[in-house]
Amino acid sequence: MKITKHIFLLVAILLFASFKKQEEGIQLQNLRCEMLVNPEGIDVVKPRLSWEIISPQRNVQQIAYQILVASSPEKLANNEADLWNSGKVNSDESIHVKYAGTTLKSKKRVFWKVKIWTNKGESTWSENAFWSIGLLNYVDWKGRWIGLDRSFEWDNETQFSRLSARYFRKEFQAKKTIKQATVYIVGLGMYELYLNGQKVGDQVLAPVPTDYTKGVKYNTFDVTKLLQTGNNAIGTVLGNGRFYTMRQDYKPYKIKTFGYPKMLLNLDVEYTDGTKETISTDESWKVTADGPIRTNNEYDGEEYDATKEMPNWNKVGFSDSNWLKAQLVQEAGGMFEAQMTENMKVMENIKPVSIKNLKANTYILDMGQNMAGWLRLKVKGKKGDKITLRFSETLQSNGELFVRNLRDAKVTDVYTLKGEGQEIWEPSFVYHGFRYVEITGFPIVPTIDDFDGRVVYDDMATIGEFETSDKTINQIYQNAYWGIRSNYKGMPVDCPQRNERQPWLGDRTTGAYGESFIFDNVRLYSKWLNDIEQAQKPDGSIPDVAPAFWRYYGDNVTWPGTYITIADMLYHQFGDKETIKKHYPSMKKWIDYMQEKYLVDGLITKDKYGDWCVPPESLELIHAKDPALQTDGILLASATYVRLLDVMQQFARLLNKPADVKAYSRVAEEIKKAFNQKFLNPQKGQYSNGTVTANLLPLVYEMIPANEKTKVWNNIVNKILVDNKGHISTGVIGTQWLMRGLSQNGRADIAYKISSNRDYPSWGYMAENGATTIWELWNGDKANPEMNSGNHVMLLGDLIIWYYENIAGIKSAKDDVAFKKIIMKPEMIDGLNAGKASYHSMYGTIKSDWKKDGNKFQWNISIPANTKSLVYLPANSLEKVTEGGKKIVGIEGIKFVKTEGKQLILEVNSGNYSFSVN
Ligand code: BGC
Repeated sequence: MKITKHIFLLVAILLFASFKKQEEGIQLQNLRCEMLVNPEGIDVVKPRLSWEIISPQRNVQQIAYQILVASSPEKLANNEADLWNSGKVNSDESIHVKYAGTTLKSKKRVFWKVKIWTNKGESTWSENAFWSIGLLNYVDWKGRWIGLDRSFEWDNETQFSRLSARYFRKEFQAKKTIKQATVYIVGLGMYELYLNGQKVGDQVLAPVPTDYTKGVKYNTFDVTKLLQTGNNAIGTVLGNGRFYTMRQDYKPYKIKTFGYPKMLLNLDVEYTDGTKETISTDESWKVTADGPIRTNNEYDGEEYDATKEMPNWNKVGFSDSNWLKAQLVQEAGGMFEAQMTENMKVMENIKPVSIKNLKANTYILDMGQNMAGWLRLKVKGKKGDKITLRFSETLQSNGELFVRNLRDAKVTDVYTLKGEGQEIWEPSFVYHGFRYVEITGFPIVPTIDDFDGRVVYDDMATIGEFETSDKTINQIYQNAYWGIRSNYKGMPVDCPQRNERQPWLGDRTTGAYGESFIFDNVRLYSKWLNDIEQAQKPDGSIPDVAPAFWRYYGDNVTWPGTYITIADMLYHQFGDKETIKKHYPSMKKWIDYMQEKYLVDGLITKDKYGDWCVPPESLELIHAKDPALQTDGILLASATYVRLLDVMQQFARLLNKPADVKAYSRVAEEIKKAFNQKFLNPQKGQYSNGTVTANLLPLVYEMIPANEKTKVWNNIVNKILVDNKGHISTGVIGTQWLMRGLSQNGRADIAYKISSNRDYPSWGYMAENGATTIWELWNGDKANPEMNSGNHVMLLGDLIIWYYENIAGIKSAKDDVAFKKIIMKPEMIDGLNAGKASYHSMYGTIKSDWKKDGNKFQWNISIPANTKSLVYLPANSLEKVTEGGKKIVGIEGIKFVKTEGKQLILEVNSGNYSFSVN
């Protein structure tokens, strides 16, 4: 009795102890390879591995790691690292650790795990993670490109071309038991893939678009579970995408087209006995263009006739005797590239907020939100009933759709019913930018329950959240969130609704940096840098649109310069040095090209767009005509070029190229000199005509002679507060630095005023006037519809950066990038009483949540393991500060650094902290 009692007690103690150990244990999470979770088919043979360290304890720093990489999960479970055992490496690196094991060949499947040692003990092994290598060499691809190089009588090959989708099928026999099956597909412009009737993957509008003459992306899927021994069927559907492009024979000198849709597919099957076989595209495949998707075109919409459905076409046993033989066609041209960024997906489903009967048989559906994607419908009716959907961002005063700002995009989807009970339909190969949908031909009175708004963009996580005590700022943030996600389409596009949707470089120069606080956009943007590099001409010229679906080689500085600023963003926010290394030669080539061609007497003499879209003098205008509102193009080009030289110097230092550092700095000095000679008016204390942009750029780029700085600064303040009564007057270029420029120089209050205005011109004015996204123009409610999208992100400038870095106060240190060292420094602004954000960095989640009330300040923060922070508190002495209710002496993880004016600076290591200032 006594003994059992003791045993019981012992077991209880042991259980408790082990529970406790686990609770305090260090865990490794979110293992990533090339910043992707368990990627299939990558084409990097020495990929970079990253992990996150989770610990409830404070002050956890990694001191060593060990990585095991094996060729099977079984081997990995036995710690048999037949591909790579890094050994115990003394290092605090936990992101971008390069694989250094056996050289990996095409199709290799690889399993890995990691363990770390910290100042607080060691972790157990992580869960297993995975990656596989794609088809690295041209010769790894078997089979032929297939397609149909023709149109059909129901197609329309005019400027508004709309082809029907092409359906392909092939049956094959798997003779033995399948161990592993992997499919590699290049389906252009867009594909859907089915095996034995089941859709492969949850991607839509795949693959991501590229300039198909330069590079084509293939997608890889593990399809072992979808195949069976015996007969199997493969089915694919090809849509136009950007391949058979949106406007045929329309300005062919400017707009690229690539040909009819086509595909190449390899299905690799490995049997349990070790034998292998590849099923690939060839003449034995069958094809029809006479299926239910009658037309599809990104701008104009999709028409689906359910009476033309071919039940079970993608399953074994379907009779395809009246289908055509697939045609062997010319290959697409570009090199095969593994797609290293996620495809698009339906990322959210939203319900409409209202439906109104406009006139007989015509309804207007309101999604309550401007969005990009499409509408899914649910309907019952007769065979042949035809429902037409048209989309728009706004309504006219009579309640009808306002479509003039869509230019000639027809944005019309048509669904023809088959009349067999409930039918659910959504398109496959289009997306629309819309809030309102006009519905005609619905067989019964529709209700909002019959529809879903399908929000479509690249499958990337939302990694940031942000909120303040100011309602206007919160709403602008929501509008920005919707605007940004609307405009990710396998590349960042300018707008999702009109006949444009182009990846304009200038729209993202600084925006991409702000966006990176909200979305895990690292892979999208590194893909985009490849697009830009591919678009570069042999002489060095970079276009304004890349991929260059529209041919715009205008040789200005402000748009192409985005190539460099985004590489900088990827490094600063995500620690991606590899991208800088890869692109450095091309960036340098462009820098040199611009210099050789346009540097005349110390100034860069070429600009194209000016400070694009400043608030104009009268509300119907798109661009200001008044010279007083415009900023000199040479000033913009030269100042921007100086800034880019500065970034290039940082890159050159990072890559250890001292000669380049010297050369860039010499040219920068030469330009600064000429710039000040030409544009600085010391009497007036202003540059050129004294626009905010003209003065702001030299200020933030540190081009102003020391003794003139105050005057120029005062000029900016005066211009904003007096001339513009606290309003914005900058366009796409000036807005990139406005908020930070004001904050850095001690006037966060002005930045706050600008960002919380609700009258014209301001972001708040857009919200006040019904915007649920960000407009292309400050006067987007009144301006000429010719160039007036309701869903553009370029005017955000540096606003989102300012929200996170200055209001929430979460910023990565410049030298310890990717938030390895975090600067926690919220601005204290009169009238703004609370700020809150969380941001999921490569190291883990950072949080800042502050409130102030008179002289009282309360601040909860979280700092991820293996990072450090510098925390700036609004207090002038240590006496006034407590953490967790205790005085700041001898608290683990906190070290006093100094007081600086009204601020107290602490070094704070990882963990959760709760500071109060009284
Ligand atoms: C686009 C902009 C783009 C600009 C440059 C516009 O039509 O929508 O976002 O940057 O043209 O010319």
